[in-house]
Amino acid sequence: MGTWKSSEKEVYDAVLVALKSGYRHIDTAAAYGNEDAIGRAIEDSGIERNEIFVTTKLWCTDHRRPREALKESLRKLRLSFVDLYLMHWPVPLNPNGNGYFPTLPNGKRDIDTEWDFIKTWDLLQELVAEGLTKSVGVSNFSVKSLKKLLASPSLKIKPVANQVELHPYLPQHKLLKYATENGILLEAYSPLGSTGSTILSDDTVVKLAEKLKVSPATLLISWAVWRNTVVLPKSVTPSRIESNLSIIDLSDEDGEILNGLSAKKGNVRFVDPDWSPFVVFDDDDY
Ligand code: A2P
Repeated sequence: MGTWKSSEKEVYDAVLVALKSGYRHIDTAAAYGNEDAIGRAIEDSGIERNEIFVTTKLWCTDHRRPREALKESLRKLRLSFVDLYLMHWPVPLNPNGNGYFPTLPNGKRDIDTEWDFIKTWDLLQELVAEGLTKSVGVSNFSVKSLKKLLASPSLKIKPVANQVELHPYLPQHKLLKYATENGILLEAYSPLGSTGSTILSDDTVVKLAEKLKVSPATLLISWAVWRNTVVLPKSVTPSRIESNLSIIDLSDEDGEILNGLSAKKGNVRFVDPDWSPFVVFDDDDY
């Protein structure tokens, strides 16, 4: 279950409902500001720690201090380790700047130009041996960034996963192919098209969902599984949390219909913060 945009208040109940319904993977991030409530819900669920898979993420202003940042996350989550720790974005931001999204006087992002994500990875990979996380990965990495990381002479552990925006309007076929060839699992965030989704009412999606007698959300989640990605639908509504858990086996023919949607309509990226002059996304991933 995804928890971006789920407030502290909402997410406690949402995680409890999710765990009671059978979810076992909870995805959060330091930047979501909800780790504390998620930690309380996990504790109150009474479910054994080793049955639950928890992911959290390193924020950009903490690229120079992932150990300390992870320890802070663990304290909030009330856990002694997470299962997966991701570098949230490949962009180091000034750790002494103004807030979570520090800016320069000209309004541009205050990027930590003396640092880069290779150095961040060098520190991140140490956290596995220290037992603070079972595995490490990245998020919002393009093929270009992944190639740079995999070619680093100091690489000891490959990222196990790359969490990126994935849905039929942004299937990122080339990124999926590259990740698969290199043994990196892609995880789909915003799989339903995020808040106010237009994909859920897309004609092709609605027609295919009607044909298969499922909801558009179930179709999109099933498609993500059909193409071998991990899928992280977000909801704070109990009925949706429960229904998002049931999926169907898509035939290759139906899967290909959704695979081809963006070629007709063009790619749409719903999560696209301004990181300039750092270039995060790359059209070559489509
Ligand atoms: P809510 O959290 O209010 O239930 P994504 O996973 O792509 O980020 O999409 C999350 C958005 O989709 C949220 O606004 C969420 O609303 C909504 N959503 C989640 N599950 C469903 C569903 N089964 N049907 C319709 N909308 C859903």
